[in-house]
Amino acid sequence: MKTITIANQKGGVGKTTLSSHLAFAAAGANMRVLLADFDPQASLSLGCNVVVPDPEFLSTMDLFAERPVSKPLQPVDEHVSLIPAGDEALYELLTAKTDVVIRARTALRALASKFDLCIIDTPPERNSLLVGALAAADFVITPMTLGLYEQGGVAKLFNTIQGTQSALNPDLRHLGILLMKTNGRSAKERAMVQHMRSEYGDYVLSAELPERAAVRHAVNTRSPVWENPRGSSHEKAAKEWRDACTMILKEISK
Ligand SMILES: Nc1ncnc2c1ncn2[C@@H]1O[C@H](COP(=O)(O)OP(=O)(O)OP(=O)(O)O)[C@@H](O)[C@H]1O
Ligand SMILES: [Mg+2]
Repeated sequence: MKTITIANQKGGVGKTTLSSHLAFAAAGANMRVLLADFDPQASLSLGCNVVVPDPEFLSTMDLFAERPVSKPLQPVDEHVSLIPAGDEALYELLTAKTDVVIRARTALRALASKFDLCIIDTPPERNSLLVGALAAADFVITPMTLGLYEQGGVAKLFNTIQGTQSALNPDLRHLGILLMKTNGRSAKERAMVQHMRSEYGDYVLSAELPERAAVRHAVNTRSPVWENPRGSSHEKAAKEWRDACTMILKEISK
């Protein structure tokens, strides 16, 4: 099982949308996918139709328990299972100490034989759940929107990633920054993209996921944006998201 964490300490950049689309793409390629929702906001769980975790199934809280918890996994569909958030007590883990934080790595690795890919969605701030998700992963990818504040956030995220690599997970590989919600028609935005590429070099992935209404609609209907595209903008979004997900899956299966 390969584990990828989707991380940016900034909110609303598309972490959860990317998590769910990677799952749709991997499931479409017949992979067995485990979605782990490390964000107490529980958007990924909501996207899977789980509002309150059923105590019968393993939840994110259980991954951090002192003793290993053995429970069945919440099925989403034929290919996908979910470890849901949504438990109020998960907020208490935002300030957990390192010995607690690293338990999730062990708990997820115990499930490795059942899945090909584990995707961890994270909260939009530096906290113990984000560190736990970085400690548990083989790869991390950073969706990012353009702007001054966003760039400030990325510098902080790089510190968090490097700190986790040196203290807890030296094998963690940062795949890079995926620019989200870009506007190709704005000259100012193109200049910002150029600036990002000169600042961060190969860390800025060549794929970009422009702002498209079809993405919001896909999220609201819990379906991949490439399902039944209607109209040229939707078709563009379908291709952009499919290509980006294929590229990421290829990169982590090398
Ligand atoms: N390329 C895109 N074009 C248009 N809308 C997008 C695009 N990517 C994401 N969105 C929308 O942006 C909103 C925020 O996305 P999402 O919830 O995935 O961000 P997030 O980083 O997980 O947020 P949070 O930090 O709150 O968890 C959603 O409504 C989503 O549909
Ligand atoms: Mg989210």
